[in-house]
Amino acid sequence: MYQQLLAPIHRFLQCETPDAWINEAKKPQNLSIILQDHMMCELKAAQSAMFLLRKYAADSESNQNLLQWMKPYEDFAYRKIGDLNSLKGKSQITKKIEPRSDQPYVAEIIDKMVLLIKEELHHFYQVLEIIEQRGIALENISAGRYAKGLMREVINHEPYTLVDKLIIGAFIEARSCERFAKLAPYLDEKLEKFYISLLRSEARHYEDYLTLAEQIAGQDISARVAHFAQVEAELIRAPDDEFKFHSGVPIV
Ligand SMILES: [Fe+2]
Ligand SMILES: [Fe+2]
Repeated sequence: MYQQLLAPIHRFLQCETPDAWINEAKKPQNLSIILQDHMMCELKAAQSAMFLLRKYAADSESNQNLLQWMKPYEDFAYRKIGDLNSLKGKSQITKKIEPRSDQPYVAEIIDKMVLLIKEELHHFYQVLEIIEQRGIALENISAGRYAKGLMREVINHEPYTLVDKLIIGAFIEARSCERFAKLAPYLDEKLEKFYISLLRSEARHYEDYLTLAEQIAGQDISARVAHFAQVEAELIRAPDDEFKFHSGVPIV
């Protein structure tokens, strides 16, 4: 079943999540950090997709609608405004997002990123629901080194910047998918089911990012993909003094 989803992801990534990370992640005392960091990763996934939409694809009126769409989630995460109830159903966007130009990739970015944002915001809501059901008190979780370590490698002029960011998107989605699958059997039944339920959309997000990167580059991107594969695998394999959803090998 889901092994089929994972096969291309395992080929894409240069290493599996190390067992040392799994051993740390399955400790009951670390569940609270895993869930909270995971929830923030869902928000960040939605925000990065929205950044790409606003910078490269949507027209200026649509950009305002996009900001409004994200606002309740950012208010909740950063300003402690709202709750599970006020976020209910907010992952749907009711307004149409219009393209800023008729370049073919613009419509493609809009289609893929709007769906992706919807799904990530829904995942955010689902993780928050689990956190609340388990009586876990929300803390401020700082970002780990993983995304920063990848973003540091982005080429600073267009169209390479956009292509690099899309490739990074593919790696983050692929790693999340691989990690959900590897961790799931060590969690309680409810969480195991939930993590497995996320695999399908995260696997599609990985594919969408990679396809967009190829289309927009209009040339072979395998050298950039190989470069990011190496950087990504180093971040996953190197010792890491912070334990997070995307952290490296824990220093215990
Ligand atoms: Fe997600
Ligand atoms: Fe995703």
